Order: sequence, then C-alpha cells, then structure tokens
Amino acid sequence: MSAVRTVIRGGLVVTAADEMHADVLVEDGRVVALAASGSDTAASWTDARTLDASRKYVIPGGVDGHTHMEMPFGGTFAADTFETGTRAAAWGGTTTIVDFAIQSVGHTLREGLDAWHAKADGQCAIDYGFHMIVSDVHDETLKEMDLLVGEGVTSFKQFMAYPGVFYSDDGQILRAMQRAAENGGLIMMHAENGIAIDVLVQQALARGETDPRYHGEVRKALLEAEATHRAIKLAQVAGAPLYVVHVSAQEALAELARARDEGLPVFGETCPQYLFLSTDNLAEPDFEGAKYVCSTPLRPRDHQAALWRGLRTNDLQVVSTDHCPFCFTGQKELGRGDFSKIPNGMPGVENRMDLLHQAVVDGHITRRRWIEIACATPARMFGLYPKKGTIAPGADADIVIYDPAAEQTISAATHHMNVDYSAYEGKRLTGRVETVLSRGELVVSEGEFTGRAGHGAYTPRGTCQYLN
Ligand code: URP
Ligand code: ZN
Ligand code: ZN
Ligand code: ZN
Repeated sequence: MSAVRTVIRGGLVVTAADEMHADVLVEDGRVVALAASGSDTAASWTDARTLDASRKYVIPGGVDGHTHMEMPFGGTFAADTFETGTRAAAWGGTTTIVDFAIQSVGHTLREGLDAWHAKADGQCAIDYGFHMIVSDVHDETLKEMDLLVGEGVTSFKQFMAYPGVFYSDDGQILRAMQRAAENGGLIMMHAENGIAIDVLVQQALARGETDPRYHGEVRKALLEAEATHRAIKLAQVAGAPLYVVHVSAQEALAELARARDEGLPVFGETCPQYLFLSTDNLAEPDFEGAKYVCSTPLRPRDHQAALWRGLRTNDLQVVSTDHCPFCFTGQKELGRGDFSKIPNGMPGVENRMDLLHQAVVDGHITRRRWIEIACATPARMFGLYPKKGTIAPGADADIVIYDPAAEQTISAATHHMNVDYSAYEGKRLTGRVETVLSRGELVVSEGEFTGRAGHGAYTPRGTCQYLN
C-alpha cells in the first residue's frame, strides 16, 4: 500500500459513464474523491504529491482479460514471463491482467492453478487474476470448478479447437456448462471446429500448401461460425452464460448478435489484431506471415468493419489482447515448411490501449466506449468492478494519465515485450501513455519504468457482474 497522498490535477477524467474536468484524490492506494478542477474542494487537497494532467486524459488503468504469459504451447513457451509481460502491460497503460492457468490432461485443476500461482507469485508489476483452462472434464474436475469459483477463479476456458491438446467434445462442454450454471462460473469458449480444421490442415499439407497463409485458409470463418453457433446452443441447453473469446469472423459475430437479440446471456470479445490486421499480413513473403499466426486466424480485411460495428452496437463487449508472444527467430521458425507447426499466438499486451485510442481518433468508437471495452466491461465481466475498471471513490487507484496529442510509432526496437518483432511495426499512432499508477504507486513516470516485480498482487475475482 502506498501511504503517499496524491492529487491528479487538471485532467479530463474519462470513465465508461462520464467525462468531467476533475481533480482526483488518491490515498492509501485508493481513489478517495473527485472534485471539479478549480473548486474549493479540490483546492483544499494540500499536503499531497501533485501530478499535472492538464491537456491530458485521466483514465482507469486497462483491464486485459486474456493473456498467456509463459504459456506452454506448440512445443515451446510464450516468450513473456509474468515479470516481462506485466511490465510491458504497465508501459501500455494496462494495470490488471487475467491470465489463463492450464489444467493438462490427466491432472487436476488444482495442480494447474498452483503451477500458475508459482509462476506469477512475486513477479508481477501490476495486479493479476486467473481464469482456468479446463482440458479434462470428469467428475472430479466438475467438483473442483465449484471450489475454484469460491476462491476467485470464476471463469473457465474450453476449446472446441486443438484436438489432442486442449480440445473438449460437446459432451464435456455441456457438462462443464451445466456446472457453471449451478456455481456461477462463466464458460469462455475458443469456438472453432478443430476436428474439421485438422482434416483441412492435412489436406492442405498433402497438396504442398505449407506457407503461413494457409493457416488462415484452413481455419475457415464458417468453422468459427459453426462452433460459435454450437457453443451458444449448448449453453442454452445448460442454462449457462457464455463468453466467446477472440471473435474474428463476421459470420461468428452474426451468431452472437442473433443470440443476444433472442435475449441469451451471450458475450463476445475481439482483439486488436482482428481490428487492425488481416490475411494480407499472413500472406507476407519470406515466412514473415508466421508473425501473424494465431487462432482464431486473421481474416480478410472486410471483416474489420463488421467487428467495429459489433463494438459500437454492443454485440461485442470486450477487447482484450490474447497476448501470447513467440519470437520469430527460433519459435515461429519451428513452422518453416509446415504452417501447422507455427506456434499460435501474437504479442500485444503493450499496444491495446493505444490502438483503441487510435480507434477513437479514427472515429470507430467514442472516448467513453474506449474505456468501456478496455477497462470497465472486462472488469465487470470477470468480477473485478468497481475495484478495477473505473475511477470512483473506493476504487483501486489504478490510473493512467494519457496524452491524446502525443505521436508515436510502434516498433520492436522500442517496445517492452520480450519478443523480437512487433505485429504493428511502423504503425503511427496519436496518443500515448504518460504516467501509470497501480494502487497509488507510480509504475510508469515521465518515460521511465518506476514499478517493481512483486508490486502486482494476485486478485481473487467475484462472479460475472452481467448476471446479477
Ligand atoms: O493463437 C492463440 N490464440 N494462442 C493462444 C491460445 C488461445 O487459443 O487463446
Ligand atoms: Zn497430476
Ligand atoms: Zn483460444
Ligand atoms: Zn488465448
């Protein structure tokens, strides 16, 4: 806890609900009060460290509900540790991550969760929580789900993709959903028909189609839509809510929109890579396309307009990163000559808040919607609100002073993620993180990292706040 009393003066405070010219008083790691800048109340806040936010935005720290630090995948490990990945997140204005602990087949949820606690404990620069990847559904697993919900791991990811690794069949999915309907958990779904995709992978390889771009061709939009539809129907049968992760295909989004029109508790997340990148990137020559291999895959450019629209109409509620970085050299290269061996995943935890601010500049979303999809809604979705995701009395003082006029160019030469390329290399952005507070402590200040590994605390979560 920071004993320092801090006042952030003169900025435009932007939350999902409001915009106001206000000073923010922080004490003991929490927001104590907001008062109109220049008011007697704000003037009475003396004896405090002052941070000048004039001509800046004062926004809640970002909540990234989908990261994979140190994830074992594709015969290697995601290149960011909890230490490097959370430091990069802080640089990018994100002050909470929810990472995925993994149950491996033949093991318990508890073993997976303990292993992830051991990786993260004492390493993180910002606060963190865990979801649980459920890869092996049986009677014991279902009982363990109840225990995990009780201790703040309130969401469970299942995979309709990756047969033989994380894959669950429809029966296993239905059983987990039924349990979630009882214990208040939220099922998060990787919705792609992995059985059909694996057939198409083998057929493509047999034809000699080995380049990264074929990753996008075999993982068809229709197979994302089919799995999304099936997941929705299974959730409906189970009477459970559903959160579909990393939606990239407009056909899948249409399934979500239809379900929501029917009034079902169905939610969707997309990621910056699907909003800003496309199959054009996957087709880059000299194996460069491997940098953009992730699942669900990047789609043709015309899907982007549908995703932006979904974010405006609230058919998509959250943008998180699915940060899962693999270096080009030595990791992505495992798939030279066979796209199916390219480790799936892309870096991005540092770039999300800036890319979404650019979306404000470009007119895709409003300022308040930026904060809603990047801070407030993920906090509510994963049971962290209003501790996280807003600036209000009682909330953790996770606050970013954001300069909306600064210019920057994204580059691997200057980013802080532990990966040897940027998916957005050379992209020019308007807007930049200036100062970051995590529970009242300065973690980024005037172009320097002032945080430390171990400041970040494990944060148990409540259940999904869209359901109560
Ligand atoms: O390609 C991806 N998305 N890698 C991370 C694992 C997952 O499916 O989210
Ligand atoms: Zn075991
Ligand atoms: Zn996934
Ligand atoms: Zn993921």
